[in-house]
Amino acid sequence: MTATIFDHQERRQWRDRASAYADSFAHLCGHTASALLDAVAVKPGERLLDAGTGTGTVAALAAARGAEVTAVDAEPSMVAYARERVPAANIVEAILPSLPFEDDAFDAVVANFVLNHVGDPRAAVAELRRVTRTGGRIAVTIWPYPQPPLQRLWADAVEVPGLVRPADRVALPADLDFPRTPDGFAALLSDAGFAEVGCETVEWDHVVDAEDWWSGPANGIASIGQLVVAQTPAVVDRIHARYLELAAAFRRADGLLALPTSALLATGTA
Ligand SMILES: C[S@@+](CC[C@H](N)C(=O)[O-])C[C@H]1O[C@@H](n2cnc3c(N)ncnc32)[C@H](O)[C@@H]1O
Repeated sequence: MTATIFDHQERRQWRDRASAYADSFAHLCGHTASALLDAVAVKPGERLLDAGTGTGTVAALAAARGAEVTAVDAEPSMVAYARERVPAANIVEAILPSLPFEDDAFDAVVANFVLNHVGDPRAAVAELRRVTRTGGRIAVTIWPYPQPPLQRLWADAVEVPGLVRPADRVALPADLDFPRTPDGFAALLSDAGFAEVGCETVEWDHVVDAEDWWSGPANGIASIGQLVVAQTPAVVDRIHARYLELAAAFRRADGLLALPTSALLATGTA
């Protein structure tokens, strides 16, 4: 399967960023780890695949629940980080939509905030379906659109004088994209052949120190981080100042931010 320009952009975006991700956005993404494993009802001894494991949050939790865990990630620094964190798991470098596993290899498959990072989401889900045994279960998350306040905060913070949007930054082409809504996400699974499909919206407040939260984009994490690190130091300072100004609306009495966010969690049976 040929990688798209979007996939190449993703490879650049995550290169060598495991530690920076672990210190910032991994805490946000980790919120849905238990819900994903509950959704696939993983039992001790079952074969579970964590696709796009990142720093291994879901893989670690699944191993703690007694699953026989396999995990993949496209980014070598993530694979190294996850291997050290979850020695019991079999963690390999692999890129959706091509997984180095036999058909029907897993009882359960999860992917936490990964299908929003692949160049061909339908092909990626078809590959996850291929490796899930008949009767096996899938649970996957993405960020919804319209954006919740946490995500909108970044979008608003970069609206500063002098911001330059890199001309080579590409979005997913419309023919490969899908609606980031409960119905759109559920349809992605149904169209790939999953049955008993459902999608719920998980809502929570991400509680975090303001400077810790800034460290993600400041170190190039996610598309917002790629935009931030492409700016001159003066523009980065402006974004930082604007971010702190906007974040003040979410500051609690103890000084931490409580940022409202939500995720779409879709489930199905193969
Ligand atoms: C937002 S992180 C989520 C990581 C992890 N699932 C978690 O919950 O913390 C996205 C991860 O997906 C990986 N990824 C992106 N595209 C991928 C692909 N096509 N195949 C495999 N992994 C991919 C990235 O390298 C990154 O580690």
